[in-house]
Amino acid sequence: MLSTHWDESLAERYRAHRYDFPEKALAGRTVVVAGGTGGLGSALVALLAKEGARLIVGYRANGERAEKLAGAMKSQLHTDLKLLPGDILDPAVRESYIDAVRQSGQLLAGAAIFPGDPARVPFESLTREAISTSFDSNYTGPMLLARDLGAMMESSESGGNLVLLATMQGVAPFPSSLAYAAPKAALVHAARVLAQQWNKVCVNVVAPGATVAGMAELSVKSGKYHRYIETGVITRFGRPEDVARAVRFFLEPGQYANGQVLIVDGGLTFRRGRT
Ligand SMILES: NC(=O)c1ccc[n+]([C@@H]2O[C@H](COP(=O)([O-])OP(=O)(O)OC[C@H]3O[C@@H](n4cnc5c(N)ncnc54)[C@H](OP(=O)(O)O)[C@@H]3O)[C@@H](O)[C@H]2O)c1
Repeated sequence: MLSTHWDESLAERYRAHRYDFPEKALAGRTVVVAGGTGGLGSALVALLAKEGARLIVGYRANGERAEKLAGAMKSQLHTDLKLLPGDILDPAVRESYIDAVRQSGQLLAGAAIFPGDPARVPFESLTREAISTSFDSNYTGPMLLARDLGAMMESSESGGNLVLLATMQGVAPFPSSLAYAAPKAALVHAARVLAQQWNKVCVNVVAPGATVAGMAELSVKSGKYHRYIETGVITRFGRPEDVARAVRFFLEPGQYANGQVLIVDGGLTFRRGRT
């Protein structure tokens, strides 16, 4: 018996080696990049601007950095960004993202949620407040925005893609990273829960390693990670373009991965046993 889900015309195309690889599939489509003015998010903004996406870019408070990015995108790629300030923990700020999508006059095709905080609190001086602050920044805010934007995409006919940012420390144990790692691990779990409960929204996670831009810039510069290069575990540090490409992969309309974590760390977590 033939499956009722079998598409013979599709099978015929593949027998004839005719494949469908759309180019610039996000051109003209609305995408949210929360935390898109940061060291990693701004590379995704540039990649999507190059493609011609309509970009809603969120940041918390650093208006100067946001305006500088908007100016660069305008002069380099002739793209206007819709900038949205405010803390995503605030329901009114999350509502402003929804409003901005509605004002774009289009359905939301995808969203990438970058906000986070390195929560550099030494293990010995960890307090309940410090843990709670890290959970707010690295789990609660991103998860609530994911819920709101994901629900918006789920209610549309075409659905969409949601990408959350974790860290290699959230998927593998590294000593002394308790305050930062645990909320990121919780975020990975939340992504999987959301991937189960929605039907039209794919939810995936990118977990970067030691990257030379953004919040890790200072620690990479300080030499904290250079032993991984000297012992051959990695060949170089990560770059914002590495992360942007991975996030873009999950934003491809109609892509087929769901509930997955892509670790973009040059193999550091996998190969670090070699040291
Ligand atoms: N850089 C790395 O090597 C690295 C490695 C592993 C994982 N990650 C993860 O990747 C993500 C991006 O990191 P990054 O290095 O690009 O960080 P970043 O340079 O510090 O940028 C963070 C971005 O998020 C915004 N933001 C922070 N908290 C917010 C909040 N509560 N509400 C709204 N916006 C908020 C910031 O706005 P303002 O500038 O206005 O505050 C900025 O746009 C983070 O989740 C981080 O944990 C980064």
